[in-house]
Amino acid sequence: MRRTKIAGTGFYVPERVVTNHDLAKLMDTSDEWIRQRSGIVERRFASEDQTPADLAYEAAVRALADAGREIGEIDCILLATLSPQHEFPGTSFFLHEKLDAPEIPCMDLRAQCSGFLYALATANSFIRAGQFGRVLVVGCEVHSMGIELATRGRDVAVLFGDGAGAAVVEANDDANDPADILEIRLHAEGRHARKLWIEAPGCSLRPYRITHEMIDDGRIYPKMDGKFVFKHAVTRMPEVLLETLSAASKKLEDVDLFLFHQANLRINEYVAGQMGIAPEKCLNNIERYGNTSAAAIPILLAEARAAGRAGPGSLVAMTAFGSGFTWACALARL
Ligand code: ACO
Repeated sequence: MRRTKIAGTGFYVPERVVTNHDLAKLMDTSDEWIRQRSGIVERRFASEDQTPADLAYEAAVRALADAGREIGEIDCILLATLSPQHEFPGTSFFLHEKLDAPEIPCMDLRAQCSGFLYALATANSFIRAGQFGRVLVVGCEVHSMGIELATRGRDVAVLFGDGAGAAVVEANDDANDPADILEIRLHAEGRHARKLWIEAPGCSLRPYRITHEMIDDGRIYPKMDGKFVFKHAVTRMPEVLLETLSAASKKLEDVDLFLFHQANLRINEYVAGQMGIAPEKCLNNIERYGNTSAAAIPILLAEARAAGRAGPGSLVAMTAFGSGFTWACALARL
């Protein structure tokens, strides 16, 4: 079986820092409530003139540079997002334009907070099947334009931030290089789709996919059953992590670094505690960036590599849970 590797990573977060105190000026919330419930201290919001593709571009350029590659050496672009630039075409096409890519295919994947791992699995399979040699995988979100920055939307609005992360994934034909994406497991449970979603605009809606009433009623903003999501996240993430390790014939102790989706620090602390994973083997950055959904894992991975927390040869387990519901885990030897 052809092996694959993560050859380069990069991330970008907008310069504008929005603290919990800043949010408390817009809605009835407090720094104390947000920190206690989620661990978040601040997040980044895109500037007035920044589009999702702008963020994706910055992350992609950094990942390409890290891999020592040019866009002309990429065979396909996969972009995961739940906050698209437009309804269609996908954000990947606007990234394609910005990167001045040759006529290579690109596509958006919609698997929310597990989106990057779904895209990584797709890239991995494309490469192993021999269809492509090198794929650019991006997770990108501009949540700040989609959340309701008012008391009505506070339960969701305080959790999210903007950012992008990217990875260059390629075939590893060097027998002396142990780098490999060992295993990726993906899951979904559509019956809980409405537990965390944005309803409108939508082509199931009548008489139009969007009306003034839908806007006034706040149906254009994310709605979440927080406790329900929390319970499923702390069950599904350990489940898929153990399934992935077992499929790769690895044990928890073999893993050098655990990267969990950054939805809530309490979720990650609970999962690590239940599984007996030492805190120093986990990396979190939610306190600085909030939940950046599809961008969270690639941002963490890029930070981990840049900080020397995940060097060549280390075994990294990336685990996510999100809207859909979706959950996934990837085990990679860097
Ligand atoms: N500031 C102040 N008070 C608030 C806020 C806020 N921002 N939001 C809600 N409250 C209030 C509520 O109104 C409620 O008040 P009440 O008791 O008077 O009714 C009280 O605080 C408690 O609210 P709960 O929703 O019960 O708070 P909980 O302890 O469940 O924490 C949280 C909420 C942080 C959202 C938690 O449920 C959670 O993290 N859920 C999981 C989130 C997640 O994993 N998302 C998945 C990934 S995201 C993705 O896939 C797109």
